[in-house]
Amino acid sequence: MKPLTIAIDGHSSTGKSTLAKQLAKALGYVYVDSGAMYRAVALNALRNGWVSKESGAQASKINAHVEVLVIDFELDQKGVNTTLLNGEVVEEAIRTMEVSNVVSHVAKLVPVRRHLVALQQAMGENGGVVMDGRDIGTVVFPNAELKIFMTASDEVRAKRRKAELDAKGQVHSLQDVLENLKSRDKADMERADSPLIAAEDAVTLDNSSITREEQFQRVLGWVEDLQK
Ligand code: DC
Repeated sequence: MKPLTIAIDGHSSTGKSTLAKQLAKALGYVYVDSGAMYRAVALNALRNGWVSKESGAQASKINAHVEVLVIDFELDQKGVNTTLLNGEVVEEAIRTMEVSNVVSHVAKLVPVRRHLVALQQAMGENGGVVMDGRDIGTVVFPNAELKIFMTASDEVRAKRRKAELDAKGQVHSLQDVLENLKSRDKADMERADSPLIAAEDAVTLDNSSITREEQFQRVLGWVEDLQK
């Protein structure tokens, strides 16, 4: 049976990566977290002082350096997907609010997108991949056999994200978390290059009031239908 390409897009904190990881594990596919790649570029820019929440990005610096960054993934000892930036494990560092607050400035830069999209396409060229992000079904894999567009209410998303941050000891108010989610969604939907939009042939999945397990079973059913 030909391995599928599964593209999962949607708003911030809708559980895209949770679903993508569940599917990849169940199907024996590769999982690629494209958002982690934008976060890694943002982390590098932050460390170099090339971006700030208030003043935005120094585009020329970031664009000139993006191609020399080595961004890849490995499984840690527990089998958990881990992001590497120039060989350094940055999985935790890219998930802070500091990075979340600047990543949209970096993700709208055209040379950054071109470079990361090419890397993502290479990672998934043989199929058997589940990739989550914002432009996977529209730009990275427009021919993906299954495209899912995930959404959930603002309240549900903010509570989920806050719980994730709390669990890592990063305490922020629900209001700050909600504002960050909304401003990233706005930036993602309004950017000129590859904005966040559901592909015409995507299935919309609103998970505000279904459990992770119900969602997973529903999507597995879609995968099985495609494999018949
Ligand atoms: O999935 P995430 O929240 O970790 O992604 C971080 C940011 O990267 C998000 O605010 C938008 C951007 N992004 C993007 O522009 N395109 C993608 N394919 C994935 C993420």
